[in-house]
Amino acid sequence: MNKDIEEIILSEEDLNALCRRLGEQITKDYAGKEPLFIGYMKGALPFMTELLKRVDLKCTLDYLRIKSYEGTESTGKIRVIGDLPDVKGKDVIIVEDILDTGNTLSASMELFKEANSVKIVVLLDKFEARKFPIEADYVGLKIPKKFVVGFGLDYNENYRNLPYVGVLKKEVYM
Ligand code: IMP
Ligand code: MG
Repeated sequence: MNKDIEEIILSEEDLNALCRRLGEQITKDYAGKEPLFIGYMKGALPFMTELLKRVDLKCTLDYLRIKSYEGTESTGKIRVIGDLPDVKGKDVIIVEDILDTGNTLSASMELFKEANSVKIVVLLDKFEARKFPIEADYVGLKIPKKFVVGFGLDYNENYRNLPYVGVLKKEVYM
């Protein structure tokens, strides 16, 4: 384990099982449809990759570059970088690493006004941290309000490559 990690909350095996469960659920729910998966970069990259392997549907994928976080506190704003995917008439499934205050997801919903439908899948849900009224349709794991890294999640751009999700030691950012 990386020396900066206090506790592992999702091991590689846990992540595999979680992605399989969510992928099978989405496969059932979207039978006969061709959803468009939109990953919020960069955090959703490993999760989206593993999840899509478990989705047995004809589907397409795209991504959105959104920034909302500096350090370990939500800044209350989002910034979209680059082009928006074409979502007109599509059944969009947003793929996000973590739902925290809800700022990123609630602020970005207006980008999908032209979609036929929009659902949200998140790897992690910090359910006690919500400040904006938004919930995910598919949740990998509900977690307490602790700062976590790995499997895409970063602290100042580091730790995204850890193959597990773990709680970052406070002394790393305090
Ligand atoms: P929200 O807008 O407050 O819901 O925050 C969502 C975004 O904040 C996510 O896309 C993450 O990039 C980031 N974030 C929230 N909590 C954590 C965490 O514990 N570790 C790493 N990034 C986090
Ligand atoms: Mg993110």
